[in-house]
Amino acid sequence: MDIATTPTSPEGNPELADAAPTPHDPPVIRREDYQPFPWIVPQTELEFVLGIDSTRVTSRLTIKRNPETESISPELRLNGDGIKTDMVMIDGARFGDWSMDEGDLLVNLPGESHTVEIVTHIDPSANTALMGLFASNGMLCTQCEAEGFRRITFFPDRPDVLSTYRVKMSGPKDLFPILLCNGNKVAEGDGNDGTHWAEWHDPWPKPSYLFALVAGDLVANSAPFTTQSGREVECNVWVREEDLARTDHALQSLHRSMKWDEETFGREYDLDLYNIVAVSDFNMGAMENKGLNVFNTKYVLADPDTATDADFDAVEGVIAHEYFHNWSGNRVTCRDWFQLSLKEGFTVLRDQLFSQDMQGEAVKRIEDVRILRAAQFPEDAGPLAHPIRPDSYREISNFYTATVYNKGAEVIRMMRTMAGAEDFRAGTDLYFDRHDGEAATCEDFITAIEDGAGLELAQFRRWYRQAGTPRIEVSQKLGDGDGLDVTFRQTVPDTPGQKNKGAMHIPLRVAVHCRETGALGEEQLIELRHDEQTISLPLAGPVPVLSINRGFTAPVIIERELESEDLVFLAAKDDDPFARYEALQDLAVRHLVAAASRELDQAGRAEGKRLVCDAFRSILSDPALDHSMRGELMMLPSETYLFEAMAGSDPAGIRKAEPLEIHKEREQLKTAIGVTLKRELESLYAQVADIPYDDPAGRGARKVKTQIAALFAASDPERAAVMASRQFDQADNMTDRQGALMVLCGLQHPAREERLQAFYDRYQGNALVIDKWFTLQALSLHPEVLSHVKTLAEHADFTMKNPNRVRSLYMAFAGNPQGFHAQDGSGYRMIADVILALDPINPQTAARFVSPLGKWRRIESVKAGLMKAELERIAVTEGLSRDTFEQVSRSLD
Ligand code: PHE
Ligand code: ZN
Repeated sequence: MDIATTPTSPEGNPELADAAPTPHDPPVIRREDYQPFPWIVPQTELEFVLGIDSTRVTSRLTIKRNPETESISPELRLNGDGIKTDMVMIDGARFGDWSMDEGDLLVNLPGESHTVEIVTHIDPSANTALMGLFASNGMLCTQCEAEGFRRITFFPDRPDVLSTYRVKMSGPKDLFPILLCNGNKVAEGDGNDGTHWAEWHDPWPKPSYLFALVAGDLVANSAPFTTQSGREVECNVWVREEDLARTDHALQSLHRSMKWDEETFGREYDLDLYNIVAVSDFNMGAMENKGLNVFNTKYVLADPDTATDADFDAVEGVIAHEYFHNWSGNRVTCRDWFQLSLKEGFTVLRDQLFSQDMQGEAVKRIEDVRILRAAQFPEDAGPLAHPIRPDSYREISNFYTATVYNKGAEVIRMMRTMAGAEDFRAGTDLYFDRHDGEAATCEDFITAIEDGAGLELAQFRRWYRQAGTPRIEVSQKLGDGDGLDVTFRQTVPDTPGQKNKGAMHIPLRVAVHCRETGALGEEQLIELRHDEQTISLPLAGPVPVLSINRGFTAPVIIERELESEDLVFLAAKDDDPFARYEALQDLAVRHLVAAASRELDQAGRAEGKRLVCDAFRSILSDPALDHSMRGELMMLPSETYLFEAMAGSDPAGIRKAEPLEIHKEREQLKTAIGVTLKRELESLYAQVADIPYDDPAGRGARKVKTQIAALFAASDPERAAVMASRQFDQADNMTDRQGALMVLCGLQHPAREERLQAFYDRYQGNALVIDKWFTLQALSLHPEVLSHVKTLAEHADFTMKNPNRVRSLYMAFAGNPQGFHAQDGSGYRMIADVILALDPINPQTAARFVSPLGKWRRIESVKAGLMKAELERIAVTEGLSRDTFEQVSRSLD
């Protein structure tokens, strides 16, 4: 099966049909066109003379012809983006034989090896895209992945060109007392006029995307780590002085990650220094630059007064993720950007396994699946669907996706499930051994796992090539002997550029229980390989109930006719915690999708609610559950997940999602639960209300508390207002405070404005907490949410220049069906306006707002038309960035 991604095919898109390709139509890069670079760059020397609005960069590259290529062309192509040079020096002398091609510098070199010296001038303060060297809060900082290095200096800016870096930087000592770069500091000193300088050397060859430099007024929280072989590593978390008190958790998380990677994957750190720097203006979560990670403050700073339990977990997870990249990403890097999942999928799996060990396996697994379903399943079902190893792109920044990251992790997790943890480890050992110091491919990874773990993955490779979430239809009948014959019929849906896909190799953990005796069947691992196949499974008793995809072994959608009583049984009794969660979700999804599609009469509606309430009751009172798990099980399926279930549950594709109906039905279900289980919820609340913050059961208690208040908000708003106000006023931590405020934000009650103001006053000036304040209002269930967001956009604290702030308001809003899907289309218009306003400032972040509008095909026709019209309005705008252009044209195709 092969994929032809044609550049904006005119079919079905009359607006673009006769538009000739313009300079705005950027070229398509294809995986199959990969060619090794004809030169190698053993050494790179950089010299930075730093200034906020003017920085001079001198680069000295040692280059040689690449012995592994046959190219005899004299041309050396050095990538550049928005930079220029006045002069090129070759082997120490001025050289005239060069030219520019788009942004790139082409030099015609006569010999086999040379030194190339180039000077560029850049203005970090004007860099609002936050790629390359930029200014943030008075400091200077870089972001080079994927193609930001070319905004600093001319270089073969591709991950398969590895070089050893020596970097000297100088600048005013008062503005930049701290000067950091990759590797180790080898020299420093004072210069003239209040300047100082530092020289850094990184002994590990690396691609340019892992380069980093930071200069600023920073302080560190430091603690050494002793590695398994007894080396001492200095670990620093660098922040602005006022944030120092909130860095302990990050530092401890780093130490835990270092230890865990030694124990679990046998990976030891390889420098004497590990620096983490927190910056407040950052497009992504964090970046794994060698020895100098740069982090969004959101994933560094945490204390109980300002960070929720979820924030603490996120800090730990992202610190681990970046640390784990030191092996899966840095020591073994990617050959080209199509291989992105090689480092990202694997590293996400590694951070998930780490967090499972730190935070508890069952709850963490449920959370990861929830993220996958909320972010990746919709992507796989929409116009931006792509395989975890894409075949083409125009702008690589658009492929840092839930598919490459999270589905990528699921794919590797399946290998681990099939091999078992121990053999999988043999596979990863072999992978690291074989490819240490190299730029590798996904294929290299798969082969190493095959060889090291003893798996056969020929058919399994389709997971790398085929986009779309497989659907498995499951039916069952009692067999002749004492088995249950289960038939599996799998399909992989068509996705852009891909049709008629082959059957996937899918591992599923299954068990057959008995509903009558309550006997639990033994779990086994089965592997599907065919479009259709029947497998006989042993029975545990006379009334079989199949428990399937336990632990969510495979990222698939299971479709089956199951009696509701079976789901109730699984929700209450299954010994696999994920299966229990899943049964409850299924029960709610079935009811809500049927109700939102107007397929239920009064009696059917009542029956559906009754079943969910019954299952809920068993969750509320089950003494075997800890509160963390209870809180997890109490979460109703998200509206995004229901959207997917509704738009995807009709095989003919005729049924469309109706987000406002989904929203209404989900609220009604919450009301029913709140009314029916009032007594149970009250007594549970009383049980958990006073568990102290530091108690081992504290976290779970906080989760349960807020869930209960949220249910009462639907069933008894007055009661909820009192409950949440009290929780807010008495809170000694952010989790309780934010949870309470979230509930209040959805109510039309004077307590809402009072507590919002109190929260603002308390945290004014703390950017991360003020982000929460924006988000809570943009996500709220309040009927006036759209006008609230408009007002908030005018707030003195709002700015389009800070990605966290933009996301805190508008990403939250785009995920709020009530506002975003407003009948008259004003929610769509607002997001389209944001894209157009943000695109010239920060294209990477702007392009991320396209996908909510890209859901138009799966939504009922009136709204679909309104959404499409907004996409078309963006598409015809002059001067769009490559990022936004690509996402908008894919969304309209
Ligand atoms: N490589 C980073 C990570 O996943 C993500 C990132 C990509 C950060 C691009 C910045 C820019 O850890
Ligand atoms: Zn990563």
